[in-house]
Amino acid sequence: MKNKQPVDIEPTVKLTISADPRGIRISPTMWGIFFEDINFGGDGGLYAELIKNRSFEFPDHMMGWSRILETGSAGYMYIERHPEDPVNAHYLRMDIRKTGDGFGISNEGFRGMGIREGAEYRFSLQARQVEGEPVILRIEVVAEDGRRLTEGTINGIDNQWRTHEVMLIASATEPRARMKLFVESGDGILDLDMISLFPMDTYKRRENGLRADLVQMLAELKPGFFRFPGGCIVEGRTLAQRYQWKSTVGHPAGRRLIVNRWNTEFAHRITQDYYQSFGLGFYEYFLLCEDIGAEPMPILNCGMACQFNTAELVPVEELEPYIQDMLDLIEFANGAADSKWGQVRAGMGHPDPFHMKYLGIGNEQWGPQYIERYIPIARVLKEKHPEIQLIAGTGSDATIFPNGQAEIDYLWEQYRKMDHIDIVDEHFYRNPDWFLENVGFYDGTNRNGPKVFVGEWGAQSVGVASPDNRNNWHCALYEAAFMTGLERNADLVTMSCYAPLFGHEDAWQWRPDLIWFDNLRAYGSASYYVQKLFSLHTGTRLLNTAVEKAPKLDESKTALHACATLDDSTNEVIIKIVNAKKAIVEASIGLEGVKTDQQAKVIVLTSDSLEDENSLESPRKIFPKESTLTIDSIPYMVSFEPYSLTIIRIPVGG
Ligand code: AHR
Repeated sequence: MKNKQPVDIEPTVKLTISADPRGIRISPTMWGIFFEDINFGGDGGLYAELIKNRSFEFPDHMMGWSRILETGSAGYMYIERHPEDPVNAHYLRMDIRKTGDGFGISNEGFRGMGIREGAEYRFSLQARQVEGEPVILRIEVVAEDGRRLTEGTINGIDNQWRTHEVMLIASATEPRARMKLFVESGDGILDLDMISLFPMDTYKRRENGLRADLVQMLAELKPGFFRFPGGCIVEGRTLAQRYQWKSTVGHPAGRRLIVNRWNTEFAHRITQDYYQSFGLGFYEYFLLCEDIGAEPMPILNCGMACQFNTAELVPVEELEPYIQDMLDLIEFANGAADSKWGQVRAGMGHPDPFHMKYLGIGNEQWGPQYIERYIPIARVLKEKHPEIQLIAGTGSDATIFPNGQAEIDYLWEQYRKMDHIDIVDEHFYRNPDWFLENVGFYDGTNRNGPKVFVGEWGAQSVGVASPDNRNNWHCALYEAAFMTGLERNADLVTMSCYAPLFGHEDAWQWRPDLIWFDNLRAYGSASYYVQKLFSLHTGTRLLNTAVEKAPKLDESKTALHACATLDDSTNEVIIKIVNAKKAIVEASIGLEGVKTDQQAKVIVLTSDSLEDENSLESPRKIFPKESTLTIDSIPYMVSFEPYSLTIIRIPVGG
């Protein structure tokens, strides 16, 4: 990068990196992940189950299923109720008269099923036969064009509910397969439930596990924390539809399904088949955190439904069950294996605690109603669990009170007066220019009070959640500039995460998103690589970064945005520089305490046009490129490419 011949050279910029007398440590949780089941991120995405509506609990009980009644077959199928099971209340009854050319059912999956050649799948179901000749079931997985990819049989069904399974190996790869279940022989009354097709190659080959390629992409971010399960789904459109963690643990068949609030949220992206099976529940989230080395950060409902929807409230004097849910969650995560909720965790296979340290009280709540609920909840939690850091929200940054005050300012006023608060969560969904113009957003902020968690943010190229938003380089580059500002304020900002995380190419509701996928493939947006570079090159101590522009440079077009840290473990200075302009910027880098003749590592993320973006077809159009550089003089002259994020790691000699 050094010897590039500039065509359109900007006046020189002087970058001086020196020790920061404040001795600020960068929090290991500085860069993390925010997960919500939106855009088919959970069911149909991270959760590896391939059958949609496996337990017939969708309100339209046959959604995702179709009946197969080929020539010569005769019989009926209808939904029955388990009289004593209010959770998994429904099952499918087949009254088989004649099997003919084909009698059975077929499942469409989540916009099809991604099947890989040579991969193993476990097909399982719960079944009983209450009368008739014993049936044999044939299971087929077929491609869109009808080609059979694999098949197996199930027999031995008797008059007791039991789980039966068969292992299948696929002969070809197919992005939009279906599963078909035929009655091969036999007749009479057959009952079926919890029909599942699960890949064996989940992350770490866990049963009831997660899609390995998607988790891999999360693991590669080396996230400091993992915020879950949302987002607005924590709140629900109504309180009845809020996220309740206790219904998401234990055996998957016993987890109560509810509608996903993104099902009907956007008129332009109605997704009528979007439900939460909770196969991916709190136990799986904690396990995922452990697998990818991230601090778990659950967020629980605080007695408020989504204020954009019904804004239903639990009276303050009736908050006790909500507080108890929080206390019980702490016990589930951290309690002894013989405690009430620790026992549930141990029974699921994890006797050791998950060491949870953070808990969010409500998601994006605002107004006095939130403060009235936060205070009594936080008081009890702090009294019983002073070791847990409590996170309070600042609402949605779009909300302004009738008196013109921004909700965020009102809430901060309250937080600065409170004892029981450790971290404040701020959300920014704004246009790309806002992020560039606000690189110094936290520079002058009052340091007295809780720490800041920038808990949901991302540049919106057209407008908040507009279906026309793009994950382009414009957004990602200006996000990178903003992140230099977050890191320079690491004494105040101790956590940050982009949102939303996942988007299914065929089933999204909100864009932009960090990671895009279909049933077989996944790729990182340009923003993903920005997040990844900051996370992999965080460092441990903040350094002071001074950017001095030559006097004739137009102040309104600040050329470079930079931050620097020291990595104690590798003894390197790490500098992150964003050139937000369409011109090469020549800069001199002055480093205090660095010997010359050092081999530095350089990583550059750039693209020619701000409109560029990654896609399924071109997943690495915007991708980090690595090189080395010999630092042979100090100050050192560097040419920064137009529209680029550059990371330089320089070993500190002597
Ligand atoms: O990230 C999408 C949504 O944006 C979240 O669910 C909510 O917290 C915010 O309004």
